[in-house]
Amino acid sequence: MSEEPTGDVVRGDRFSGGPARGFLSSLAADERIFAADLAVDRAHVVMLAEQGILDADEAGAILDALDAIEADGHDALPDGEDVHEAIEAAVISRVGPEGGKMHTARSRNDEVATCIRYRLREDLLAAVEATLALRDALATTAEAHTETVMPGYTHLQPAQPTTVAHYLCSYEQAVSRDTARLLDAYDRVNRSPLGAAAFAGTTFDVDRERTAELLGFDGVLENSMDAVSTRDFLVESLSALGALATTLSGLAEDLIVFANRGEVDLSDDYSSTSSIMPQKKNPDTLELVRATAGDAIGGLTGLLTTLKGLPRAYNRDLQRATPHAWETVDAVSEATDVAGGAVATATWDEEALADAASEGFSTATGVADLLAASGVPFRTAHEVVATAAESGADVDALDAAAEAVLGESLFAYVDREALTAALDPAESVASRDSTGGQPPTSSPTPSARRGTVTRRTRRRSTRAERRSTRQIPIFARR
Ligand code: ARG
Repeated sequence: MSEEPTGDVVRGDRFSGGPARGFLSSLAADERIFAADLAVDRAHVVMLAEQGILDADEAGAILDALDAIEADGHDALPDGEDVHEAIEAAVISRVGPEGGKMHTARSRNDEVATCIRYRLREDLLAAVEATLALRDALATTAEAHTETVMPGYTHLQPAQPTTVAHYLCSYEQAVSRDTARLLDAYDRVNRSPLGAAAFAGTTFDVDRERTAELLGFDGVLENSMDAVSTRDFLVESLSALGALATTLSGLAEDLIVFANRGEVDLSDDYSSTSSIMPQKKNPDTLELVRATAGDAIGGLTGLLTTLKGLPRAYNRDLQRATPHAWETVDAVSEATDVAGGAVATATWDEEALADAASEGFSTATGVADLLAASGVPFRTAHEVVATAAESGADVDALDAAAEAVLGESLFAYVDREALTAALDPAESVASRDSTGGQPPTSSPTPSARRGTVTRRTRRRSTRAERRSTRQIPIFARR
């Protein structure tokens, strides 16, 4: 038995839609959950048969129809208010009225919430994988640059010398927390609302744990009213994606600035050019990565604004909450992939970085630390170095400043070699060996892959040791 698909299995002859028909429909956007809805339909039908709510023949016919509908694809669905209704109409058109038994003991409310969660799991895992690839690119590049000295900045001014490895690993650590937040969100996405029906449960003896198991969920959302109402799993997911996009925007901004200074060279694959200015090589991909935070923040804001103040239990507003999730997860995953590719293929100009690290008296803090370790109160040492910063920032300027501030020669406290070492960016980096600091290890260790470049043991040097340059760890500059 076969009927013309009407797409109106829910409304029948009433509410056939007038001018608002298109406005009501989510069918086009629902392509995203076409496969999810088929999976949800199958699990539900299998459970209904196992529970004796459908007989085996009815269930078999519906399952066959679902296979055929899958093979024909989303575009072949009859017109309808949404994918759930359209698939149901297509089942009925193949199986006959008995096909309508598929919708026993459920509602589109629990159905759509289950479909979104089912599909979002896959998308979150894609986002997680993108973060892993980015972290690998950061750690691998860091491993090659444990000894590459670069300027570290605060307020965009040279602040203290550091290494490219330390810089890149700072982002690897940040992105590792983004991975963790995505996985955390995944845990709560991975719960089944199916069987909650409209919101109030059902008279049928459904087995909610069974459909959850068939669909690979970790368990069910207990309260049926909560199960259909909540979209907090979208809020969590988009918050995690927003945090990730914000991390990426900072990384992109840095790399754009470094490229602008000639310290990083982006590969052509991740650059663009000007349609008029032939000499230009622009960091367009990273600018788009930077801009993606706007999409993510907009998506989260749009979602929260849609959800705010919604009464229990289901309201059609929820239909417009979902696209925020798809748009955000797509934009952020793609930006993460691109950021990973840009990092993996960029080259760091060691000479330009070393030159830049010598500019702006970026070793000033290390000199103040040296004086402080030699008995000068840090605040006084700070004043000595600040005074010298205005008059040359070299050994002579420091000595003159010491005479002015301390009333005695600098060399009453430190020897010339120790001072010269403290003024050297590479040695300045090597001497800052506190936990989480950046000195290169003698050979790259797996710790770089884990995102930290730290010395294995923390050791406090004595004042006497600090007076001798030989005690300051030295590493080769390439
Ligand atoms: N397309 C709808 C959505 O995305 C499906 C649920 C419709 N439920 C209803 N009671 N009208 O939310």
